[in-house]
Amino acid sequence: MSYNGSMSTNISEDAVELVEMARRAAEAAYAPYSDFCVGAVAVADDGRRFVGVNVENAAYGSTICAEAAAIAAAATAGVRQVDTIAVGCLSVAECYPCGNCRQLMSEFGVTRVVVQDPDNGAREHSLEDLLPHSFGPESLI
Ligand code: THU
Repeated sequence: MSYNGSMSTNISEDAVELVEMARRAAEAAYAPYSDFCVGAVAVADDGRRFVGVNVENAAYGSTICAEAAAIAAAATAGVRQVDTIAVGCLSVAECYPCGNCRQLMSEFGVTRVVVQDPDNGAREHSLEDLLPHSFGPESLI
């Protein structure tokens, strides 16, 4: 629990910092078609942080979301368990991950999703809230 001025908020210590890191990463987004610049941070189970940005393509469907890029960077470093994904966007005040990225988060065991909040800096959700009754690796067993 953090305390800022007269308002108490229910967010973890690192939430605002992670969203700020994601927003800084978003400055490198490659988004010439939408001009919608997103950054993400994947926090591995050992605490390492991996950033990603959205990478668009003239064939629009080939676009890679920031969250997917961050998870891919983590996976490339050998990470198989991502605890948290933080999302930051330079184009709008609130940006939630798309359905495809929620599914990707499920694959890598994400439990916490941090998004930017115009009032408190950050807001947290469980992946279970954002992707209830999900189909994941455990569903195959
Ligand atoms: N995008 C992301 O990278 N992450 C999100 O959470 C939402 C959408 C990107 C995809 C595309 O490059 C642009 O934002 C507009 O959809």
